[in-house]
Amino acid sequence: MKIVAVLPPVVELPEQSPGYLFNVEKAYNLHEYFASKGHEFVTISDAKESLEPHLADMSIFICSPFYPAYLTKELIERSPNLKLAVTAGVGSDHFDLKACAARNITVAEVTGSNVVSVAEHAVMQILILLRNFVGGHQQAVSGEWSLPKVGAYAHDLEGKTVGIFGFGRIGQRVAARLRPFDVKLVYNDPYRREDLEAQLDVEYVPFDKLVETSDVITIHAPLTEQTDTLFNRDVLGRTKQGAYIVNTARGKIMETNALVDSLKSGHLAGYAGDVWYPQPAAADHPWRTMPKQAMTIHYSGMTLEAQHRIELGTKAILDNFFEGKAQKQEDLIVDGGEIVSPSYKIK
Ligand SMILES: NC(=O)c1ccc[n+]([C@@H]2O[C@H](COP(=O)([O-])OP(=O)(O)OC[C@H]3O[C@@H](n4cnc5c(N)ncnc54)[C@H](O)[C@@H]3O)[C@@H](O)[C@H]2O)c1
Repeated sequence: MKIVAVLPPVVELPEQSPGYLFNVEKAYNLHEYFASKGHEFVTISDAKESLEPHLADMSIFICSPFYPAYLTKELIERSPNLKLAVTAGVGSDHFDLKACAARNITVAEVTGSNVVSVAEHAVMQILILLRNFVGGHQQAVSGEWSLPKVGAYAHDLEGKTVGIFGFGRIGQRVAARLRPFDVKLVYNDPYRREDLEAQLDVEYVPFDKLVETSDVITIHAPLTEQTDTLFNRDVLGRTKQGAYIVNTARGKIMETNALVDSLKSGHLAGYAGDVWYPQPAAADHPWRTMPKQAMTIHYSGMTLEAQHRIELGTKAILDNFFEGKAQKQEDLIVDGGEIVSPSYKIK
């Protein structure tokens, strides 16, 4: 059987990290795994150019959201043997899920593998924005010492309203981590979680109220037809003057240029996140140079600990496939010819 994975190329590190698994060479230790089973395993770095010759005979395709291959309807139709598409991580929007369902291709991801890692990153970026960390840090390294330039734009998090958009595994963990900061927490999600509202001291609000009353909006919903470019010019215009947005979910949930314009106009006070569209982001992507931002590249969910959990979870999905066992229901996004994940089948 032929298995194809898309992973970043090897990069020389100043000090080698033995735990680093995320490149074509280490490949989550899958080279050894597939060799022991007698399967052909091909790793490629450039899906646009190198995937083409494998479409005809690949049976399993593996890629991650950090370095995605966009498996479009057209590519899926040209992959007649494809049975299993695995997301080595969380978030399977890089696969055309409807096309996978139509072809009865199973889509599975390593649910929960990096939710703590992303929640920590989101909390970090909220604090970085409010405290104007980037301004203070830039002065520290440049030799400057101008307190007003930093202090005039720095805020406490305490007392602010934080709106959590998407209250699943990550959204809930962000709520739990923010609670000790004495903030007011509100959330919006198609599934109301009354069981968690008292426990986490969070209040359910409709989408418009979340947008219009939050000092900080943190985005944790998947990219779907409903959330695609949901934060467009109109929605951004309805956020509070001086609000902040942190997006560690998917870049395409934002309208790229509307965000840039809002930051330039001074309406939004800041934006941070690690997700872009498309990825890897081009060197001239407008978010790299927009003002009042604390972007990182997409790595919140790939700490060394998360990489290890992704390795184990990916192997568990593959084991189930090879042994003909049922996948864990929570890992399944598409199965039996339909989208089965509750987070992706919202109409
Ligand atoms: N930056 C990263 O490294 C990274 C890592 C993991 C996940 N993610 C992203 O974060 C997303 C959430 O991950 P998770 O593990 O919490 O998933 P999850 O499935 O546990 O939670 C997603 C939540 O979003 C809700 N949702 C779906 N559609 C919505 C809508 N239209 N409006 C509001 N809420 C909606 C779902 O009901 C669910 O409660 C993933 O889909 C992925 O895109 C990013």
